[in-house]
Amino acid sequence: MPQAKQYTLNPPLDESELLPEPLDQLQNWITAAQAAGMIDATAMTLATVGADGRPSARIVLCKGFSEGGVCFFTNQEGRKGRELAQHPDAALVFWWDKLERQVRIEGRVERLPRAASLEYFRSRPRESQLGAYTSRQSAVVASREELDARLEANEQAFAGIEIPLPDFWGGYRLLPQAVEFWQGRRGRMHDRLRYLRTADGWNVERLEP
Ligand SMILES: Cc1cc2nc3c(=O)[nH]c(=O)nc-3n(C[C@H](O)[C@H](O)[C@H](O)COP(=O)(O)O)c2cc1C
Repeated sequence: MPQAKQYTLNPPLDESELLPEPLDQLQNWITAAQAAGMIDATAMTLATVGADGRPSARIVLCKGFSEGGVCFFTNQEGRKGRELAQHPDAALVFWWDKLERQVRIEGRVERLPRAASLEYFRSRPRESQLGAYTSRQSAVVASREELDARLEANEQAFAGIEIPLPDFWGGYRLLPQAVEFWQGRRGRMHDRLRYLRTADGWNVERLEP
């Protein structure tokens, strides 16, 4: 019989250990994942819904929290940007294998103010700024050569000057309605604690594994 992997790294996850705010709890788990040596501890899967009602998912990086929301930056005219414009409900999933922990978040997404996108864009290496400026994210391109030629042309056009923040690029924050913390336990009897937003704060409930 094949051996099923057992999740035994952590002591049980108890209600009494959770911080009052789920994003503080999430920050703790991200910090623990970084300390455990995970290279992309802030990587999260973002699921969106298309106009046809079909889901799509991809990974983006969590770039911190703002006004109670989880922030990420992207091209706002690519597939996820178009889907979010039509259906602002979205979901996020973090998975840290070195910690045997998962976090699932559901909520509504809104655009960050332009000033916040500009501040983040300015903090990026020039190469990343040029890439963001050059890429028509999610569009079909005839060849790699065409893309590289466009990058080269932009490099020359902006030689010695600041790359402007493109109109089509910026940040979002997902305002959570539900945040679930999952921690692996032996025999598939995992711990699952879910914060649900209520009129006056957060309610935590335990889910069966
Ligand atoms: C580890 C990792 C981190 C990523 N971070 C981002 C990100 O922060 N923003 C982004 O737009 N794309 C990021 N990507 C690329 C996306 O997964 C995706 O390919 C891209 O955003 C296009 O998605 P879309 O066509 O659904 O809009 C990342 C990919 C990986 C594997």
